[in-house]
Amino acid sequence: MINVGAPDFALGVVGAGAMGSGIAQVALTGGITVILTDASEAQLDKARAALFARIDRLVEKRELKPDSAAAAKARLTVAREIGALAPCRVVVEAIVEDLDAKRKVFRALEEIIGEEAILASNTSSIPIAAIAAACRHRRRVAGMHFFNPVPLMRLVEVIASTDTDPAAVETLSALGQRMGRTPVVVKDAPGFLVNFGGRAYYQEALHILQESVATPADIDLVMRECCGFRMGPFELLDLTGMDVNYPVSEIVLKGYGYDPRVKTTPLHASMHLAGRLGRKSGHGFYRYDADGKKIASPPAAMSGAAPPARVILPEPHEGLVALAVAAGVETQAPDDGTSPIMIAPWGEDCTAAALRLGLDPRRTVAVDLSHDTTKRITQMMAPSGDVAIGDAVAALLAAAGRTVTRIKDSPGFIAQRITAMVANIGCEMAQMGLASPADIDKAMQLGLNYPLGPLGFAEKLGVRTTYDIMRQLFDSTGSDRYRPSLWLRRRALLGLPAATPD
Ligand SMILES: NC(=O)c1ccc[n+]([C@@H]2O[C@H](COP(=O)([O-])OP(=O)(O)OC[C@H]3O[C@@H](n4cnc5c(N)ncnc54)[C@H](O)[C@@H]3O)[C@@H](O)[C@H]2O)c1
Repeated sequence: MINVGAPDFALGVVGAGAMGSGIAQVALTGGITVILTDASEAQLDKARAALFARIDRLVEKRELKPDSAAAAKARLTVAREIGALAPCRVVVEAIVEDLDAKRKVFRALEEIIGEEAILASNTSSIPIAAIAAACRHRRRVAGMHFFNPVPLMRLVEVIASTDTDPAAVETLSALGQRMGRTPVVVKDAPGFLVNFGGRAYYQEALHILQESVATPADIDLVMRECCGFRMGPFELLDLTGMDVNYPVSEIVLKGYGYDPRVKTTPLHASMHLAGRLGRKSGHGFYRYDADGKKIASPPAAMSGAAPPARVILPEPHEGLVALAVAAGVETQAPDDGTSPIMIAPWGEDCTAAALRLGLDPRRTVAVDLSHDTTKRITQMMAPSGDVAIGDAVAALLAAAGRTVTRIKDSPGFIAQRITAMVANIGCEMAQMGLASPADIDKAMQLGLNYPLGPLGFAEKLGVRTTYDIMRQLFDSTGSDRYRPSLWLRRRALLGLPAATPD
């Protein structure tokens, strides 16, 4: 293993664009000597100026002492010629996302650097094995996948490919730590960890939209207010842009042999084709004004209906009783044949739950009590459900102090469906040994700002409940997209925590 703390250790960075200059910056502030190269002289000048300005801002914000900033700047050398990287013991490549261009750089680097030096690529979608295949010494080739903007994103995925020497992986992890990042070791697989796992959140939202169950605004509100995500899936799609997230979806889908679990929807493709890219084009799932601010549409008006005098609760449920009591609605009366019936199913749509329980589907209203229900509650009814009954239950929930999201019938509502899918893909990542269970959660939280990792969501829902939701989704749709991960199934059947290793 290379000593990344040695006084003569130098890191080479090829490509001084958005990523390369960020990688150089965190290395410099971490006390590392950096040689930064780029094919373009102008880009090098620009990168150095921007990087120094960012370091100065850290001083202004008192996050860095002036003498440390000066020392960091003094540790930087920029050069147009790749030959300048000869003394480097690790080189990170961050040039254009093009396999041939990357292979050329790696071959050129092998001609100039020492026998034991490590070569890492910051690629987000090219298999490390494909780059290593062009090299003489494949054991020293790995991935070092940073996230944008590098100085703000603490995660770095260290990608170990088929031939990568474990010592190289250790060196890159130690280097990541010196750069103030949190390294997570990940196998060389399509999308690596975060770009694979991240599909579940927004793609399931796209599937819910495709089924006309709810609007993007409704789905975003539920995921933020009930599940604690900082951004809703459609806000996230608009922020990253369809020109970025659609091609990544295609790469991951192809890489996993067109597994329906990671399939996006036709709407996503047509938005990409039509140039409805999101914030950057002023129009995505939302519209944006000239200042880039989201133009909000007014919330749906309430019907003006009054809460019912009583509700029928066919199954004992503390949460439902508490809501009815808070709204001053009676819960103990026998079924009078006219009052609303309230249920809180897991994984089922209202139709299936009403029929299973032998209830009148026209009077049955399903509400989702799976996540935080203090602000917002989702309700749905079977087709042919009595609108007046739905209005009365919405009024009950409003009287209990909740904002109501009304959706069409859907197995698992919005929140159960999306969080169970996130958990299921997380379990599949654990099953594939993409990373350790703890690292899967750490990477998804740091890389995507999730409130919990996927295995954390399985624990929150309950491992058995997560499995049941997936089974219900699978049974009701007949789609392989919803087949439960075997990792999840075994732990659910055995009553074990989601992160239990094999
Ligand atoms: N931007 C992101 O969000 C992001 C996130 C993670 C990983 N990545 C990956 O990082 C890499 C760089 O992305 P970026 O956004 O910084 O790109 P960028 O276009 O901002 O920068 C690329 C730089 O590489 C230089 N370059 C191109 N070919 C070169 C060559 N043969 N030799 C030397 N320099 C060369 C260009 O002059 C440019 O300055 C890509 O592989 C990308 O997939 C990007």
